[in-house]
Amino acid sequence: MQKQVILTGLRSNSEFHLGNYLGAILPMVEMQKRHAGQYQLNMFIPDLHSFTTPIDHGKLYQQTLQNLKVFVAAGLDIDQPDTFIYRQSYIPAHSELTWILDCFAYFGELSRMTEFKDKGGNNENVSVGLFNYPVLMAADILLYGAKWIPVGEDQRQHVEFTRDLAMRINNKFGDLFVVPEDNAKQAEFVGRSEPVRIRSLRNPERKMSKSVDDPAGTIMLIDNPEEAAKKIMSATTDNLEKVGNPDFESRPGVANLVQIHKLLSPDSQNNLSEMSYKDLKDVVAKIVADFLTNFQTRLAQVDEQQLLTKLEADEQATSRIANETLTKVQKAVGLRPS
Ligand code: TYM
Repeated sequence: MQKQVILTGLRSNSEFHLGNYLGAILPMVEMQKRHAGQYQLNMFIPDLHSFTTPIDHGKLYQQTLQNLKVFVAAGLDIDQPDTFIYRQSYIPAHSELTWILDCFAYFGELSRMTEFKDKGGNNENVSVGLFNYPVLMAADILLYGAKWIPVGEDQRQHVEFTRDLAMRINNKFGDLFVVPEDNAKQAEFVGRSEPVRIRSLRNPERKMSKSVDDPAGTIMLIDNPEEAAKKIMSATTDNLEKVGNPDFESRPGVANLVQIHKLLSPDSQNNLSEMSYKDLKDVVAKIVADFLTNFQTRLAQVDEQQLLTKLEADEQATSRIANETLTKVQKAVGLRPS
């Protein structure tokens, strides 16, 4: 039997931040450590997605390579034969399948996507790419028959959309696609009670984001560790004094710091609930600074040539898998003889 596929993608329109790391990169690295050999792992850069919002195109190519290095620095073992790293635009089947899927996706369901609405859905000049990107994301997933998609909370709606679309097409043409698991099972699979949403340190009602200009609220993985610690020390909290048991509804700033602590230091024995805010910030600032120091040391050591060799080999291998699915779909919809 073929191995089940775990797949995730991260746009490289800028450096990654702590939200990207905790929401998507860490779960993939943990999956690989926990289940080496049992699953196929696809971790890729959706470079075509990277300009659904405006970017400096002159930097995209280098940024993509730089961000691939982050996967290795975060602990992904690229020597595992079942682990694939690749760039979306190097595998044309992603774009081709997107067009076919487009013709089965509904304008109404795409208009309701929260990410689209948040990033300017009401604006006349919003790009069609931003509107359409959940369909490209569905192609990314369906081409490889991925069942498990570790993503942060903001991308869950797109995974649900992928499920709906796959089931709709399967109903029409027979079992063409593997349908990804639902959100509850996805969270359970990565060992979390719910999908992760790291908040801005300054505006904790909003997510930490690379599309929003919020340097004091965002910890980039390349931030100087001391500067990052300062950002934690000046994070917005609330007017209570003790940590207690904060929830995201009423005390998002404190809940965010507790969440960062739990994810970066799962084995810690610290009793946070008894702490003052000052003590909580001291502890989290240290954990974050130590994490960044270690991460950045590993990033500087990534062997670029080894990465490129693996990347090129994987792009050939994944092209073959993607093309097989594409041909199957082309036959089903009548573009090729069956
Ligand atoms: P992107 O590039 O915006 O984000 C990459 C990953 O980081 C997660 N993330 C967060 N998690 C927790 N807290 C945050 N504040 C936070 N900010 C970002 C995102 O949920 C995501 O998992 N469309 C996708 C990329 C994509 C993809 C795919 C993902 C394209 N094709 C196929 C999975 C499967 C995106 O724009 O993510």
